Amino acid sequence: MITTSGLTKVYQSRGREVTALDGVDLHVREGEVYGVIGQSGAGKSSLIRCVNLLERPTSGTVTVAGQDLTALAGRGRRAGKELRQARSRIGMVFQHFNLLDSRTVRDNVELPLEILGISGQARTRKALELLDLVGLADKAKAYPGQLSGGQKQRVGIARALAGDPKVLLSDEATSALDPETTRSILQLLRDLNQELGLTVLLITHEMDVVKTVCDSAALMRKGRIVEAGTVGELLATPGSELAHTLFPVGGSPSAPDRTVVDVTFHGEAAARPVISQLSRTYNIDISILGAAMDTVGGKQIGRMRIELPGGFEENVVPIGFLREQGLQAEVVDGGPADATDIPAQTPAPLTEEVAK
Ligand SMILES: Nc1ncnc2c1ncn2[C@@H]1O[C@H](COP(=O)(O)OP(=O)(O)OP(=O)(O)O)[C@@H](O)[C@H]1O
Ligand SMILES: [Mg+2]
Repeated sequence: MITTSGLTKVYQSRGREVTALDGVDLHVREGEVYGVIGQSGAGKSSLIRCVNLLERPTSGTVTVAGQDLTALAGRGRRAGKELRQARSRIGMVFQHFNLLDSRTVRDNVELPLEILGISGQARTRKALELLDLVGLADKAKAYPGQLSGGQKQRVGIARALAGDPKVLLSDEATSALDPETTRSILQLLRDLNQELGLTVLLITHEMDVVKTVCDSAALMRKGRIVEAGTVGELLATPGSELAHTLFPVGGSPSAPDRTVVDVTFHGEAAARPVISQLSRTYNIDISILGAAMDTVGGKQIGRMRIELPGGFEENVVPIGFLREQGLQAEVVDGGPADATDIPAQTPAPLTEEVAK
């Protein structure tokens, strides 16, 4: 549904060049919720702004719903007619909502419809329908100043849906919200994804967001995508940083002569007593150093860090046993491997503009 190939973006800043995107190949399938995470400055916002051509990429192409947007003329507010039309079918949700305080909730939702040249009555009908969809039917006459953060974001989402988009882009839509409101907004995005068949590309700092709603995820670093795949694929990839961040397991060996193994369970393997089988089969004592279990897409997935007596050479067979059981077993060498480079803090504020 969304494909970028070889996407680069180089900003000129006070005579210096800043490479924000460095050859990004992204592929978001129709109907999925796709999360992009990464540290501040990794290029996440640049990516999303290039996807709807709010920023013109320096090179590479962006295809949305089969249309090559990079082939259309103009950029940002100076987009040509074709690009404006294409963009009206891509909804965008912002971290700081970008509502006009002087307009009622209904008028805010009507704004993009006004720009699309839709007449008064049809516009109002559509706006009320959308407000109903996001659970704000009773707030149509309120002003943004009278709403909570979560309600404001619902208005932002209703407005993003005004052009009947097939694709919704969201840049840190929940970063300004408390955890409970975040959950309700994520649930709304998930519902819209399922009810309207909407493809959602969302950018976030928060790993919980990925865990809660995403079918697929990518990790960005220094303008590149360093890992990408469905959540299931990532969890099955040895050494996946995203998997470690989704399911962090900590714990250091209790003595020098020990082998520490991270075991990932997914699918039906999660339900079998593999660890006790391992212990019985090889007559070894196993200590559990750390564990995390969760449900992703209705399936139980978990990771466990275990300690086996003896060095690696002595444990080749037990590790092989775990792998034969369909589990992923990775030997952790050296210190704790639970470090992540995804900070939990909220991002620096960005200059955003309403997608007009
Ligand atoms: N308009 C601009 N002019 C110059 N440099 C820019 C501009 N926008 C972004 N950059 C630079 O490009 C890099 C990537 O920025 P971007 O905003 O895409 O990161 P991000 O991953 O969204 O970060 P955050 O999590 O803080 O929002 C950064 O080094 C940033 O300073
Ligand atoms: Mg950003």
